[in-house]
Amino acid sequence: MASPLISKYNIPGPRYTSYPTVPYWDNDTFSSKEWKLSVARSFSESNSTEGISLYIHLPFCESLCTFCGCNKRITKNHNVETPYLESVLGEWRLYLAMFPERPIIKEMHLGGGTPTFFSAENLARLLRGIFRHATVAASPSFSFEGHPNNTSREHLQTLFDFGFTRVSYGVQDYNTTVQLAIHRLQPFANVKRVTETAREIGYTSVGHDIIFGLPFQKKEHIVHTIEKTQELMPDRIAFYSYAHVPWIKGNGQRGFKDEDLPTASEKRDMYQTGKRMLEEAGYAEIGMDHFALKTDSLSKAVDNKSLHRNFMGYTESKTQFMLGLGVSAISDSWYSFAQNVKHVEEYQELVAQNIFPVYRGHILNEEDLVIRNHILNLMCKLETSWETPQKQFPELQEVLLHLQEMEADGLVEIGAGQLTVREKGRPYVRNVCMAFDLLLQRNKPETQLFSMTV
Ligand SMILES: C[S@@+](CC[C@H](N)C(=O)[O-])C[C@H]1O[C@@H](n2cnc3c(N)ncnc32)[C@H](O)[C@@H]1O
Ligand code: SF4
Repeated sequence: MASPLISKYNIPGPRYTSYPTVPYWDNDTFSSKEWKLSVARSFSESNSTEGISLYIHLPFCESLCTFCGCNKRITKNHNVETPYLESVLGEWRLYLAMFPERPIIKEMHLGGGTPTFFSAENLARLLRGIFRHATVAASPSFSFEGHPNNTSREHLQTLFDFGFTRVSYGVQDYNTTVQLAIHRLQPFANVKRVTETAREIGYTSVGHDIIFGLPFQKKEHIVHTIEKTQELMPDRIAFYSYAHVPWIKGNGQRGFKDEDLPTASEKRDMYQTGKRMLEEAGYAEIGMDHFALKTDSLSKAVDNKSLHRNFMGYTESKTQFMLGLGVSAISDSWYSFAQNVKHVEEYQELVAQNIFPVYRGHILNEEDLVIRNHILNLMCKLETSWETPQKQFPELQEVLLHLQEMEADGLVEIGAGQLTVREKGRPYVRNVCMAFDLLLQRNKPETQLFSMTV
């Protein structure tokens, strides 16, 4: 039987990598013209002081993992690499033409799909093309996602030579039954090899992604996976709750039945077990889903209160302007969001015609900006405050009324002008954010848009 708290709070909810969340973007008031204006404004406000962030989406994977919710294209044909990278550089040139000065890149992340699907040589060509017209900021933070089955020493060395010092590897679970169900056979030896090679080369942060709630997964599999993980002691661990979103077109979450998935209370038990084991091993929990060693830059960001969250997940510092290049990539100019088209061919065609491949977005209004700050505070610091009039909004009392039940359940503490998420409430931080999410409160979805919060 599920505990009363789980029964009450396990509801569909956003993961808040943005506010407003993507389904609540007002695409009608968004236009390419508005987007360009807000890019120009944000770039000029922040480039020379804090620099910009670049996210590059590299969508190809050789084999489909049936749990995966990312935007990817499955192919074994590596001839797709060059034309795709040409398009990414073409899109970069479209933005460069708008910038009044050379961009200064503070953060860069290569995500996917599988960046290591591309040869090291092609990744080097991409990065040379990016840096030809950009300057690297002082103490940059460059990272990429590597697949343990195909990341080579050459990949790691090449990217390190361009300034990459962080890599994260998809591990998910070491049990063979689970691996077969998710169509991802991946021996521990592969993860060990790529983890050790990254360290030999000089990477200062190696991360592993582990998921709880996968088909056929049991608590003992989590225990086993974390025991194996402790043999390698990655600097960071993303400990994700499996997001079951089979209604998203083309994401390929099939090959197992809903009944094969653990129940919400089994999932919560897996999380609690994993959390305890990781904390005993010296990891500190950070925001939602993340654990890091005290020496890792993410832990340091918590200590000096610079932790930020955007479409890349948690980041060490806030850059006002994050440009997303590549198919389906999302950009954030702080005053607006924009997303690129999701199909590789359409993306390439638009760029070939010198058209920004953006197909939807949102321009943030005053209210959005205030709420966005509260949600960021909650996701990054587990607290927020409204002592100054700029942080207040007309529905604040209503929001607090909503939160009284969570306070009675011991999940949050509401004080004079501030709210703190208690340790017991940490697994429910998405639910706390939902109380502040005015767009969601005003327009509750009739069909399921988000994964469950547990
Ligand atoms: C793009 S993949 C990482 C790089 C590479 N493609 C790989 O699989 O090793 C990003 C990570 O997102 C996580 N992820 C993907 N789909 C998910 C889902 N439905 N629920 C929770 N986490 C998911 C996985 O942990 C995965 O490692
Ligand atoms: S988990 Fe990684 S390798 Fe698997 S389909 Fe998703 S992006 Fe591709």
